[in-house]
Amino acid sequence: MRFTIAIDGPAAAGKGTLSKAIADRLGFAYLDTGLLYRAVGAKTLQGVAAIEAAQVLVADDLDGDALRSPDVAQAASKVAVLPEVRAALVDFQRAFARRAGGAVLDGRDIGTVICPNAEVKLFVTASADVRARRRFLELSDKGLVTSFEDVLADVRARDDRDMNRAEAPLKPAKDAVILDTSTLDIPGALRVALDAIEQQMPTS
Ligand code: CDP
Ligand code: CDP
Repeated sequence: MRFTIAIDGPAAAGKGTLSKAIADRLGFAYLDTGLLYRAVGAKTLQGVAAIEAAQVLVADDLDGDALRSPDVAQAASKVAVLPEVRAALVDFQRAFARRAGGAVLDGRDIGTVICPNAEVKLFVTASADVRARRRFLELSDKGLVTSFEDVLADVRARDDRDMNRAEAPLKPAKDAVILDTSTLDIPGALRVALDAIEQQMPTS
């Protein structure tokens, strides 16, 4: 079966948590496309040109807690405005989306650009304050951040860059289901998502 679930939304909205839970539940493969941009961003912090980095990414580049740091997140959102960087990453994402057995991809432009024909599109969001609070808890546990204010500033700066870039800006696809998790816990969000998915699943 080929079945693509596209999950987009702003930073720390709960896309990854939801995507993993959906993929587990359905036995689908999962791709965190943010990691591709984070890996390219991390290479630019080491002095590699962004376009070159995007063209030669390997699986090992997508590993490690260091990719989760706010510095790498900012670098990711800066390389993500470059059309050549985005273009270099398209084929891999599309091939992943159409693999046999079903796939869940999360990011910013999955439902709008990468997989405009995805069987299900979700746009996961929450207020900036809630998202920053969740991300702060996560990163302070790993010793990767010092203050809530820094995390909020990172989230706001990335949201702004992601929504206002010319190429593949962050926005809901016209046919996306909007899922605001500001007051939903993870099981609650999963229930809404699975309902939306079930409506599109072939019955056999
Ligand atoms: O992938 P994305 O950046 O959108 O978010 P995430 O990494 O899935 O979630 C960020 C943090 O928020 C994680 O620590 C989740 O456990 C938490 N979360 C939550 O508390 N409630 C939700 N409904 C969704 C996520
Ligand atoms: O986990 P979080 O939502 O904080 O970020 P991420 O999904 O790992 O994405 C990091 C950055 O990569 C984003 O701020 C975007 O600038 C960029 N990105 C993108 O442009 N397109 C995607 N499909 C995924 C990420």
